[in-house]
Amino acid sequence: MSRIKSIAFLLLVATLALAACGGGAADEKADCAPNCEYTDMVFCYPQLGAESDWRTANTASFKENAADLGVRLLFSDAQQKQENQISAMRACIQQEVDVIGLPPVVEDGWEAVLTEAQDAGIPVIIVDRSVTADASLYASHIGSDMVVEGQRSADEMNKLLPDGGKVVELSGTTGSGAAVGRAEGFRMNLNDNIEIIDSQTGNFTTAEGKPVMEAFLSKYGDEIDGAFIHNDNMAIGAVEAMKAAGLQPGDIVIVSVDGTRGGFQLMIDGWVQADVECNPLLGPQVYEMALRLMNGESIEREVLTNETVYYPDEAGDLLPTRKY
Ligand code: AHR
Repeated sequence: MSRIKSIAFLLLVATLALAACGGGAADEKADCAPNCEYTDMVFCYPQLGAESDWRTANTASFKENAADLGVRLLFSDAQQKQENQISAMRACIQQEVDVIGLPPVVEDGWEAVLTEAQDAGIPVIIVDRSVTADASLYASHIGSDMVVEGQRSADEMNKLLPDGGKVVELSGTTGSGAAVGRAEGFRMNLNDNIEIIDSQTGNFTTAEGKPVMEAFLSKYGDEIDGAFIHNDNMAIGAVEAMKAAGLQPGDIVIVSVDGTRGGFQLMIDGWVQADVECNPLLGPQVYEMALRLMNGESIEREVLTNETVYYPDEAGDLLPTRKY
């Protein structure tokens, strides 16, 4: 064999070996049912982004538990862009993964890629936020009941403003199941004597939450009695704006959502009066459901996380025990 031919051959072998590795997902999707184990599983998780401490904890839950269980995890970060999530899902479908867990950045627009996964025989578990696609296109949804979180937030606001008042809303990502559900639940339970005077998105980030609160303060001044803030990271940004405007803790009562360490610190410092829990530690449950799917077992169509509300008087004791 000439030198050029042997180099070409070596390149071909290397390419095939790489292809075999890439298609390892397919190879590892052994015909193991009904005795599949976690070490048989190739799991795709096209994470929606890294916008909040909640999201960081959610990512860690999937990565750490995959390592502990021996699951092969194909992880990607879509940077809050639906098109990136869809591309990542398509790459996973091509690699013939066993199961896809999809935390959808927004509710709408998933029909096409969910159909592609279904046609390829790959079950999808919707994680965290919901989708509007028909439930026949995915195996299950596991996450928080965002409407209930909004209702709990309104119940807390009702207690904080018993004589009524004016509130502003810092909403999460527009079109996301979390923002839509929380907004809906809040309006369902809010007392008639409390008026929502404005609602703007802060996209679930500290950086975008701060200017939204700055704008509210310059527009409404001391008209604002309360703020419903859809997550702790935006609450951190909002409090920065309130401090800069010379406000003191309690001048505007705040109900936030998540129950992160940052939210607990805001309660300890007196800025947040109630923090509605949203639990990001979903990895173990989702992997268990995925394994059951691989083994041909049926799983629940919807699994809603059990959650609570946290208050300032317990925040100091609980903060050291918080995992996120
Ligand atoms: O979907 C869950 C929400 O997304 C959390 O409340 C928020 O912090 C995150 O970005």
